[in-house]
Amino acid sequence: MSIAKLAILGGGQMGAGIAQVAASNGIDVTLIKATPGSSDPVKATIEKSLTRLVEKEKMSQAGAMEVMGRIAFTDDLGAVATADLFIESIIEDIEVKKAKFAEVDRIMKPQGILASNTSTLAITEMQDATERSERFIGLHFFNPPTAMKLVEVVPTRTTDPSVTSVAIGFCERLGKTPVLVADSTGFIVNRLLTPYMVDAMRCLEAGLSDIHGIDTAMQLGANHPMGPLALADYIGLDIVHAMATNLYESFGLEHMKPTRTLDHLVAEGILGRKSKLGFYDYSESPPVPNPALHG
Ligand code: 3HC
Repeated sequence: MSIAKLAILGGGQMGAGIAQVAASNGIDVTLIKATPGSSDPVKATIEKSLTRLVEKEKMSQAGAMEVMGRIAFTDDLGAVATADLFIESIIEDIEVKKAKFAEVDRIMKPQGILASNTSTLAITEMQDATERSERFIGLHFFNPPTAMKLVEVVPTRTTDPSVTSVAIGFCERLGKTPVLVADSTGFIVNRLLTPYMVDAMRCLEAGLSDIHGIDTAMQLGANHPMGPLALADYIGLDIVHAMATNLYESFGLEHMKPTRTLDHLVAEGILGRKSKLGFYDYSESPPVPNPALHG
Protein backbone atom coordinates (compact mmCIF):
# COMPACT_ATOMS: atom_id res chain seq x y z
CA MET A 1 0.00 0.00 0.00
CA SER A 2 1.25 3.49 -0.75
CA ILE A 3 -0.31 6.78 0.23
CA ALA A 4 -2.16 8.54 -2.60
CA LYS A 5 -4.69 10.49 -0.51
CA LEU A 6 -3.73 12.30 2.66
CA ALA A 7 -6.06 14.08 5.09
CA ILE A 8 -4.58 16.48 7.64
CA LEU A 9 -6.50 17.90 10.59
CA GLY A 10 -5.22 21.30 11.70
CA GLY A 11 -4.27 24.30 9.60
CA GLY A 12 -1.50 25.70 11.80
CA GLN A 13 2.18 26.04 10.85
CA MET A 14 2.71 22.28 10.95
CA GLY A 15 -0.47 21.19 9.16
CA ALA A 16 0.05 23.76 6.40
CA GLY A 17 3.71 22.82 5.98
CA ILE A 18 3.03 19.08 5.84
CA ALA A 19 0.25 19.72 3.29
CA GLN A 20 2.62 21.71 1.09
CA VAL A 21 5.38 19.09 1.24
CA ALA A 22 2.99 16.22 0.49
CA ALA A 23 1.28 18.04 -2.39
CA SER A 24 4.70 19.02 -3.78
CA ASN A 25 5.47 15.30 -3.95
CA GLY A 26 2.36 14.34 -5.89
CA ILE A 27 0.02 13.41 -3.06
CA ASP A 28 -3.61 14.61 -3.02
CA VAL A 29 -4.18 16.41 0.25
CA THR A 30 -7.30 17.52 2.09
CA LEU A 31 -6.47 20.07 4.76
CA ILE A 32 -9.23 20.12 7.35
CA LYS A 33 -9.49 23.12 9.65
CA ALA A 34 -9.84 22.06 13.27
CA THR A 35 -11.47 25.27 14.48
CA PRO A 36 -14.49 27.06 13.01
CA GLY A 37 -13.83 29.78 10.44
CA SER A 38 -12.58 30.31 6.94
CA SER A 39 -9.71 28.32 5.39
CA ASP A 40 -8.51 31.47 3.61
CA PRO A 41 -5.65 32.25 6.08
CA VAL A 42 -4.10 28.77 5.79
CA LYS A 43 -4.55 28.82 2.02
CA ALA A 44 -2.78 32.19 1.94
CA THR A 45 0.08 30.79 4.09
CA ILE A 46 0.74 27.99 1.62
CA GLU A 47 0.39 30.33 -1.38
CA LYS A 48 2.90 32.73 0.19
CA SER A 49 5.33 29.90 0.89
CA LEU A 50 5.08 28.67 -2.73
CA THR A 51 5.47 32.22 -4.07
CA ARG A 52 8.77 32.44 -2.14
CA LEU A 53 9.97 29.31 -3.93
CA VAL A 54 8.90 30.73 -7.31
CA GLU A 55 10.72 33.99 -6.55
CA LYS A 56 13.86 32.02 -5.61
CA GLU A 57 13.46 30.13 -8.92
CA LYS A 58 13.16 26.83 -7.07
CA MET A 59 9.71 26.19 -8.57
CA SER A 60 7.87 27.39 -11.68
CA GLN A 61 4.64 29.36 -11.44
CA ALA A 62 2.86 26.44 -13.15
CA GLY A 63 4.42 24.04 -10.63
CA ALA A 64 3.17 26.17 -7.73
CA MET A 65 -0.35 26.20 -9.21
CA GLU A 66 -0.20 22.44 -9.63
CA VAL A 67 0.74 22.04 -5.95
CA MET A 68 -2.13 24.33 -4.86
CA GLY A 69 -4.46 22.34 -7.13
CA ARG A 70 -3.62 19.18 -5.19
CA ILE A 71 -4.75 20.67 -1.85
CA ALA A 72 -8.45 20.80 -0.96
CA PHE A 73 -9.47 22.99 1.98
CA THR A 74 -12.44 22.20 4.20
CA ASP A 75 -13.71 22.23 7.77
CA ASP A 76 -15.66 18.99 7.31
CA LEU A 77 -14.09 16.02 9.12
CA GLY A 78 -16.16 13.78 6.82
CA ALA A 79 -13.43 14.40 4.22
CA VAL A 80 -11.29 11.73 5.93
CA ALA A 81 -13.60 8.96 4.68
CA THR A 82 -11.54 7.99 1.61
CA ALA A 83 -8.06 9.02 2.79
CA ASP A 84 -5.24 6.44 2.93
CA LEU A 85 -3.52 8.33 5.73
CA PHE A 86 -4.84 10.80 8.31
CA ILE A 87 -2.41 13.05 10.18
CA GLU A 88 -3.65 14.93 13.24
CA SER A 89 -1.83 18.21 13.82
CA ILE A 90 -3.99 20.09 16.32
CA ILE A 91 -3.69 21.60 19.80
CA GLU A 92 -1.59 19.61 22.32
CA ASP A 93 -4.56 18.52 24.44
CA ILE A 94 -4.81 14.77 24.87
CA GLU A 95 -8.57 14.77 25.46
CA VAL A 96 -9.27 16.85 22.34
CA LYS A 97 -6.98 14.61 20.30
CA LYS A 98 -8.59 11.42 21.61
CA ALA A 99 -12.07 12.71 20.77
CA LYS A 100 -11.01 13.61 17.21
CA PHE A 101 -9.33 10.25 16.66
CA ALA A 102 -12.43 8.40 17.90
CA GLU A 103 -14.52 10.37 15.42
CA VAL A 104 -12.12 9.87 12.50
CA ASP A 105 -11.90 6.15 13.30
CA ARG A 106 -15.67 5.87 12.81
CA ILE A 107 -15.65 7.74 9.48
CA MET A 108 -12.43 6.60 7.74
CA LYS A 109 -12.23 3.51 5.51
CA PRO A 110 -10.99 0.44 7.44
CA GLN A 111 -7.63 0.22 5.62
CA GLY A 112 -6.83 3.87 6.44
CA ILE A 113 -3.87 4.64 8.69
CA LEU A 114 -4.16 7.10 11.60
CA ALA A 115 -1.16 9.20 12.63
CA SER A 116 -0.45 11.95 15.14
CA ASN A 117 2.05 14.76 14.74
CA THR A 118 2.10 15.37 18.50
CA SER A 119 5.22 16.99 19.97
CA THR A 120 5.24 15.19 23.29
CA LEU A 121 1.99 13.33 24.02
CA ALA A 122 1.69 9.54 24.16
CA ILE A 123 0.77 7.87 20.87
CA THR A 124 -0.47 4.80 22.78
CA GLU A 125 -3.00 6.86 24.71
CA MET A 126 -4.41 8.31 21.49
CA GLN A 127 -4.61 4.98 19.70
CA ASP A 128 -6.57 3.53 22.63
CA ALA A 129 -9.38 5.93 21.74
CA THR A 130 -9.81 4.04 18.44
CA GLU A 131 -10.64 0.53 17.32
CA ARG A 132 -7.61 0.31 15.04
CA SER A 133 -4.52 0.38 17.23
CA GLU A 134 -2.70 -1.83 14.70
CA ARG A 135 -3.13 0.93 12.08
CA PHE A 136 -2.02 3.80 14.34
CA ILE A 137 1.42 5.45 14.39
CA GLY A 138 3.22 8.66 15.37
CA LEU A 139 4.62 10.80 12.55
CA HIS A 140 6.41 13.74 14.11
CA PHE A 141 7.45 16.46 11.66
CA PHE A 142 9.61 19.47 12.53
CA ASN A 143 9.06 23.16 12.11
CA PRO A 144 9.26 24.33 9.36
CA PRO A 145 8.14 21.07 7.71
CA THR A 146 9.12 22.45 4.30
CA ALA A 147 12.79 22.69 5.33
CA MET A 148 13.37 20.19 8.13
CA LYS A 149 14.51 16.79 6.91
CA LEU A 150 13.57 14.62 9.89
CA VAL A 151 10.37 12.75 10.69
CA GLU A 152 10.29 10.75 13.92
CA VAL A 153 8.27 7.60 13.19
CA VAL A 154 6.71 6.21 16.35
CA PRO A 155 5.16 2.75 16.11
CA THR A 156 3.52 1.49 19.30
CA ARG A 157 3.56 -2.07 20.61
CA THR A 158 0.45 -2.82 18.58
CA THR A 159 1.30 -1.03 15.31
CA ASP A 160 1.36 -3.57 12.46
CA PRO A 161 4.87 -3.73 10.93
CA SER A 162 3.31 -3.25 7.47
CA VAL A 163 1.89 0.10 8.68
CA THR A 164 5.34 1.15 9.89
CA SER A 165 6.76 0.26 6.45
CA VAL A 166 4.07 2.31 4.68
CA ALA A 167 4.78 5.24 7.02
CA ILE A 168 8.52 5.04 6.33
CA GLY A 169 7.86 4.92 2.58
CA PHE A 170 5.58 7.94 2.88
CA CYS A 171 8.29 9.98 4.69
CA GLU A 172 10.88 9.02 2.08
CA ARG A 173 8.53 10.02 -0.73
CA LEU A 174 8.33 13.44 0.93
CA GLY A 175 12.14 13.65 0.81
CA LYS A 176 12.39 13.25 4.58
CA THR A 177 14.64 11.00 6.65
CA PRO A 178 12.58 8.84 9.00
CA VAL A 179 14.02 7.77 12.36
CA LEU A 180 12.22 5.07 14.34
CA VAL A 181 11.58 6.02 17.97
CA ALA A 182 9.82 4.27 20.85
CA ASP A 183 6.66 5.89 22.20
CA SER A 184 8.03 8.03 25.03
CA THR A 185 7.30 11.65 26.01
CA GLY A 186 9.06 14.03 23.60
CA PHE A 187 10.50 11.13 21.56
CA ILE A 188 14.18 12.00 20.85
CA VAL A 189 14.31 15.57 19.60
CA ASN A 190 11.89 17.33 21.92
CA ARG A 191 13.19 15.37 24.95
CA LEU A 192 16.63 16.84 24.29
CA LEU A 193 15.75 20.16 22.68
CA THR A 194 13.07 21.39 25.13
CA PRO A 195 15.26 21.29 28.29
CA TYR A 196 17.97 23.03 26.24
CA MET A 197 15.65 25.94 25.37
CA VAL A 198 14.31 26.11 28.92
CA ASP A 199 17.86 26.07 30.33
CA ALA A 200 18.73 28.97 28.03
CA MET A 201 15.86 30.89 29.70
CA ARG A 202 17.38 29.98 33.10
CA CYS A 203 20.73 31.34 31.89
CA LEU A 204 18.95 34.60 31.01
CA GLU A 205 17.21 34.71 34.41
CA ALA A 206 20.55 34.08 36.14
CA GLY A 207 22.11 36.99 34.26
CA LEU A 208 24.76 34.90 32.47
CA SER A 209 24.35 37.09 29.42
CA ASP A 210 21.63 38.96 27.55
CA ILE A 211 19.29 37.52 24.89
CA HIS A 212 21.60 38.37 22.04
CA GLY A 213 24.63 36.99 23.90
CA ILE A 214 23.01 33.62 24.70
CA ASP A 215 21.74 33.15 21.14
CA THR A 216 24.99 34.27 19.52
CA ALA A 217 26.98 31.92 21.77
CA MET A 218 24.98 28.88 20.69
CA GLN A 219 24.86 29.89 17.03
CA LEU A 220 28.59 30.44 16.76
CA GLY A 221 29.81 28.09 19.47
CA ALA A 222 27.70 25.08 18.54
CA ASN A 223 26.95 25.93 14.91
CA HIS A 224 23.19 26.00 15.43
CA PRO A 225 21.16 27.83 12.76
CA MET A 226 19.29 29.73 15.49
CA GLY A 227 20.00 30.41 19.15
CA PRO A 228 17.76 28.71 21.76
CA LEU A 229 15.69 31.82 22.58
CA ALA A 230 15.07 32.65 18.92
CA LEU A 231 14.16 29.01 18.37
CA ALA A 232 11.68 29.04 21.27
CA ASP A 233 10.05 32.13 19.73
CA TYR A 234 10.01 30.38 16.35
CA ILE A 235 8.32 27.24 17.69
CA GLY A 236 5.88 29.28 19.81
CA LEU A 237 6.30 29.87 23.55
CA ASP A 238 2.94 28.24 24.31
CA ILE A 239 4.10 25.09 22.54
CA VAL A 240 7.47 25.13 24.31
CA HIS A 241 5.62 25.61 27.62
CA ALA A 242 3.33 22.64 26.89
CA MET A 243 6.30 20.47 25.89
CA ALA A 244 8.26 21.37 29.03
CA THR A 245 5.22 20.71 31.22
CA ASN A 246 4.61 17.30 29.64
CA LEU A 247 8.26 16.32 29.95
CA TYR A 248 8.43 17.47 33.58
CA GLU A 249 5.23 15.58 34.42
CA SER A 250 6.61 12.42 32.75
CA PHE A 251 10.19 12.41 34.03
CA GLY A 252 10.08 14.66 37.11
CA LEU A 253 13.44 16.25 36.23
CA GLU A 254 13.78 19.85 37.41
CA HIS A 255 15.66 21.06 34.32
CA MET A 256 12.65 20.14 32.17
CA LYS A 257 10.24 22.36 34.13
CA PRO A 258 9.05 25.65 32.53
CA THR A 259 10.85 28.64 34.03
CA ARG A 260 9.06 31.58 35.63
CA THR A 261 9.85 33.74 32.60
CA LEU A 262 8.19 31.21 30.31
CA ASP A 263 5.19 30.93 32.67
CA HIS A 264 4.75 34.71 32.69
CA LEU A 265 5.19 35.23 28.96
CA VAL A 266 2.64 32.56 28.07
CA ALA A 267 0.16 33.81 30.70
CA GLU A 268 0.41 37.27 29.14
CA GLY A 269 -0.14 35.96 25.59
CA ILE A 270 3.46 36.78 24.59
CA LEU A 271 4.04 33.74 22.41
CA GLY A 272 7.00 34.54 20.15
CA ARG A 273 6.88 35.16 16.44
CA LYS A 274 3.19 34.41 16.03
CA SER A 275 2.19 37.15 18.51
CA LYS A 276 4.99 39.44 17.23
CA LEU A 277 6.62 39.50 20.69
CA GLY A 278 8.60 36.96 22.68
CA PHE A 279 12.28 37.00 23.55
CA TYR A 280 12.48 39.24 20.49
CA ASP A 281 10.25 42.02 19.22
CA TYR A 282 9.14 41.10 15.70
CA SER A 283 7.51 44.43 14.97
CA GLU A 284 11.04 45.61 14.18
CA SER A 285 12.92 44.47 11.09
CA PRO A 286 15.25 42.80 11.84
CA PRO A 287 13.74 41.71 15.17
CA VAL A 288 15.37 43.16 18.30
CA PRO A 289 15.70 41.59 21.78
CA ASN A 290 12.68 42.29 23.99
CA PRO A 291 13.94 45.07 26.34
CA ALA A 292 11.54 43.95 29.07
CA LEU A 293 13.55 40.72 29.34
CA HIS A 294 16.98 42.18 30.07
CA GLY A 295 17.46 42.17 26.29
N1 3HC B 1 8.90 25.70 0.90
C1 3HC B 1 9.78 24.72 0.58
N2 3HC B 1 11.06 24.75 0.95
C2 3HC B 1 11.46 25.80 1.67
C3 3HC B 1 10.61 26.84 2.04
C4 3HC B 1 9.29 26.77 1.63
N3 3HC B 1 8.41 27.70 1.96
N4 3HC B 1 11.28 27.73 2.78
C5 3HC B 1 12.53 27.28 2.85
N5 3HC B 1 12.63 26.11 2.19
C6 3HC B 1 13.84 25.33 2.03
C7 3HC B 1 14.81 26.14 1.22
O1 3HC B 1 14.60 25.92 -0.17
C8 3HC B 1 16.13 25.62 1.70
O2 3HC B 1 16.39 24.36 1.06
P1 3HC B 1 17.78 24.11 0.30
O3 3HC B 1 18.80 24.14 1.39
O4 3HC B 1 17.58 22.77 -0.31
O5 3HC B 1 17.93 25.23 -0.65
C9 3HC B 1 15.86 25.30 3.17
O6 3HC B 1 14.44 25.14 3.27
C10 3HC B 1 16.34 26.41 4.10
O7 3HC B 1 15.65 27.59 3.72
P2 3HC B 1 16.25 29.05 3.79
O8 3HC B 1 17.64 29.02 3.24
O9 3HC B 1 15.30 30.01 3.20
O10 3HC B 1 16.21 29.32 5.30
P3 3HC B 1 17.34 29.65 6.33
O11 3HC B 1 18.67 29.22 5.87
O12 3HC B 1 17.12 31.07 6.72
O13 3HC B 1 16.91 28.70 7.54
C11 3HC B 1 15.49 27.66 9.06
C12 3HC B 1 15.66 28.83 8.15
C13 3HC B 1 15.37 26.36 8.24
C14 3HC B 1 14.21 27.86 9.88
C15 3HC B 1 16.77 27.54 9.99
O14 3HC B 1 16.95 28.74 10.66
C16 3HC B 1 16.69 26.42 10.97
O15 3HC B 1 16.96 25.26 10.65
N6 3HC B 1 16.32 26.76 12.23
C17 3HC B 1 16.16 25.73 13.26
C18 3HC B 1 14.80 25.12 13.12
C19 3HC B 1 14.58 23.99 14.10
O16 3HC B 1 15.42 23.63 14.90
N7 3HC B 1 13.38 23.42 14.02
C20 3HC B 1 12.97 22.36 14.90
C21 3HC B 1 12.15 22.94 15.97
S1 3HC B 1 11.55 21.69 17.07
C22 3HC B 1 10.13 21.17 16.35
O17 3HC B 1 9.74 21.58 15.30
C23 3HC B 1 9.39 20.12 17.09
C24 3HC B 1 7.95 20.48 17.23
O18 3HC B 1 7.30 19.37 17.81
C25 3HC B 1 7.67 21.70 18.04
